[in-house]
Amino acid sequence: MNWGMKNRISRIIKPGTGRCVMLAVDHGYFQGPTTGLANLGKTVAPLLPYADALMITRGAIRNWIDPAAEIPIILRVSGGQSILKELSNEIITTNIEDAIRINASAITCSVYVGGEYERETIDNLSKLVDEGEKYGIPVLAVTAVGKEMARDARYLGLASRICVEIGAHMVKTYYTEDFEQVVEACGKVPVVIAGGKKLPEIEALHMTYHAISDGATGVDMGRNIFQSDNPVGMIQAVRAIVHEGKSVDEAYGIYQRSKR
Ligand code: R5P
Repeated sequence: MNWGMKNRISRIIKPGTGRCVMLAVDHGYFQGPTTGLANLGKTVAPLLPYADALMITRGAIRNWIDPAAEIPIILRVSGGQSILKELSNEIITTNIEDAIRINASAITCSVYVGGEYERETIDNLSKLVDEGEKYGIPVLAVTAVGKEMARDARYLGLASRICVEIGAHMVKTYYTEDFEQVVEACGKVPVVIAGGKKLPEIEALHMTYHAISDGATGVDMGRNIFQSDNPVGMIQAVRAIVHEGKSVDEAYGIYQRSKR
C-alpha cells in the first residue's frame, strides 16, 4: 500500500484505537430528502465533532458542508437509480478528478451481489479500485442488500469477500448473527457495519457492541444516529463503545444523560 493510501486510511481509522465512527448521510442519492436529512447541514453540524469521517455525495457536500470543516470525507461516487426503480442499477456518478478536488479521503460505491445488475456493480467497484490505486485513494465497498436478499452471515460473507477479492480497501456491510465469519472472510480488510433502519437506541448500541466484539473496525452509521431523539448523545454513545470499549449499559447512560 502506498504512502498516500495509508495516510488517507489513517485519517479515517484512528491509529490510536484502530477503530472508526463514520457518519453516513449519503441516503439522498437514491432516497431523496430522507427523514432527518432535508436540511442536511443543520443535522450534521453538531455531529461532526464526534465523527471520524463523513460519508456523503459531492452535491450534498457542496450544498451543506463548510469547506473549513476538518472532517475526512468518504465520497459516495455511485448512483443513477432511485427507490422507485431497480436499486442495483448503479453507475459511477463522480469521476476521480472531482473526488480529488473535494479532497476525498476515500471513495465509495455499492455492490449488489445477487442483484439484477450484480456484474455491473462489481465492474463499478473494480474501476474505482483501479482509479483509487492510481491516486492513493482507498475504496470503501458497500454490500448493498436487495429487498429479497437474506441478511445472514453466509450471504454477507459471500458479498463482502467478493468486494475484498475485487480489491476494496474497506468493506461496509450489515451486522448479523455469526458476524465473526463475515469479518474472517475479509482477511486484513477492515469491516464496518451500517446501522440500517432506525432501531430503539438500546438495540442499536447492542448491535454496535456485538459487531465490535466480533471484530468489526467500527460503524458507518446513519439513521440510528441522525434520526435519534438525541443524535449528539447517540453518536457519543456509539463512540464510547467503538473507541473506549464501554459496555452497552455505560454507552446507553451516556445517551440518556446527554438528553437532560
Ligand atoms: C446506503 O447504501 C447508504 O450508503 C447509507 O449510507 C447506509 O445504508 C448507512 O446508513 P444507515 O446506517 O442509515 O443504514
